Amino acid sequence: MNKNCDVLVIGSGPGGYVAAIRAAQLGKNVLCVDKRKELGGTCLNIGCIPSKTLLHTTESYWKLLHHGQERGLETTGLSVNFSQMMTNKRKVISGFNAGIAGLFKKNKITHLCGQASFRGTHEVQLSTGETITFKEAILATGSEPIALPFLPFDEKRILSSTGALSLEAPPQKLLVIGAGVIGVELGSVYSRLGSEVLFIEFLDCICPALDHSLSKALQESLTRQGMQFYLSSKVIEATVQDSITLQVETPSGLQTFTGDAVLVAIGRKPYTAGLGLDTVGIATNPKGMVLVDRQFRTNLSHIFAIGDLIDGPMLAHKASEEGVAVAEIIAGKKPLVDYSTIPQVAYTYPEVAAVGFTEKETQALCLTIKTGVFPFKANSRAKCNDEDDGFVKIIADAASDEILGVHIIGAHASELIGEGVVAMQNRMTSQGLAETSHAHPTLSEAIKEAALAVNGRAIHK
Ligand code: FAD
Ligand code: NAI
Repeated sequence: MNKNCDVLVIGSGPGGYVAAIRAAQLGKNVLCVDKRKELGGTCLNIGCIPSKTLLHTTESYWKLLHHGQERGLETTGLSVNFSQMMTNKRKVISGFNAGIAGLFKKNKITHLCGQASFRGTHEVQLSTGETITFKEAILATGSEPIALPFLPFDEKRILSSTGALSLEAPPQKLLVIGAGVIGVELGSVYSRLGSEVLFIEFLDCICPALDHSLSKALQESLTRQGMQFYLSSKVIEATVQDSITLQVETPSGLQTFTGDAVLVAIGRKPYTAGLGLDTVGIATNPKGMVLVDRQFRTNLSHIFAIGDLIDGPMLAHKASEEGVAVAEIIAGKKPLVDYSTIPQVAYTYPEVAAVGFTEKETQALCLTIKTGVFPFKANSRAKCNDEDDGFVKIIADAASDEILGVHIIGAHASELIGEGVVAMQNRMTSQGLAETSHAHPTLSEAIKEAALAVNGRAIHK
């Protein structure tokens, strides 16, 4: 059977489904295909949403277990029902699967399930046999985990994030290769549930994209929670028997680590398998990213690409911003995505969140800066909440006082960073932010104080 549309969106993740909705709002006849039955892509089905659901549940448990009694909460008999935790995770996901389906219906978007493969420059065929002809297409097929050649994923004991989000029971000892954002988030989940968690990280710091002060503070905090880190270390061999044994080159020599599961979290790569890019000659770079211009056009100007498939941070909100922009470009508008104010977050405890330049990046750009730091230990709400681990750091240009970066480590940093994003998007100065009234007692007062500290004026420090 053949179907026609104005705009074909391939992939229904946060890039694709948002692009589809925006294109439909702008009057286009839109068809969205996904090889997965459920809508929502990696983010909803095997990424952001399941991981944050498990992080929230395990954080509540861990806080009650370790800090309940001192706050007057009797926790005798507190225990974990792991299978119910997973059932709840699935319920949250399926609620949103249905939510996106409802939005598609409301916006009159046709949804088909099947793997799309190019047959011509205006035609794809689905794995179901159907063909679709389109005027314009948006590729939003996302990314997949990178495997180590000597440790292929079986998703039972050799895990990517996908397997780690669907285990039947917490492993006794979990080895994590790569202390990036997936590693520290999912490592935290299992550490809180009682697993022994040990990280092997290639570089000399964890979460290397973070400002060094946050990366260091996060590592210290996770270490206090019982996680172990081997930095500047490289796995050179793996033996998989009843348990998994890794030979690791560490700064103090060759070491052997044994665990009953290993999570390989060393990054993700663009996913284009089966898409048939070669059939129509769509260009990619050596890392497999689809090459696009500033309007997200591939070398075929009526075929666009967005999200994890193209260059830039692999983040859901970045994919969605691009989804809106590409739909508007197709409709003849001139939107702009401001990549300098895209926030990044790791949902650990404490959370870390950042927007703008790190201190190291300002050095590389030879910018002259001033910084203000304010600890949550001096913030009244953080004390009330028993969540006083961490600090806010604001970097401003020394001459103009314009804010160049906001870096937060602390409980609810993921929510607090929104203020930094708005301030930077509106090119505020640290003084302007410092002169803005913040409700008391709130964690956000630490942002005001850090902004005051940029010019040596913090009140409570
Ligand atoms: P995806 O969400 O990957 O969607 C691509 C879709 O395309 C998939 O559904 C796939 O089935 C479909 N597809 C692929 N090929 C075809 C084809 N040929 N035909 C039809 N369909 C096809 N980001 C955040 O911002 N915050 C977070 O907290 C966060 N947590 C994460 C946690 C984990 C464990 C992981 C793995 C990722 C996380 N991310 C997070 C990253 C985020 O999930 C991605 O950046 C985001 O999903 C990318 O969106 P996308 O639309 O580009 O692609
Ligand atoms: P990552 O790039 O964040 O971290 C990978 C880590 O592995 C790095 O620290 C890197 O130095 C290390 N590494 C690479 N090769 C190694 C090796 N051979 N041995 C040991 N260490 C090695 O990638 P990760 O954690 O896999 O996540 C992929 C992407 O998913 C992220 O970049 C992010 O964009 C997205 N994501 C976002 C989340 C969020 O926003 N909260 C949560 C989870 C994922």
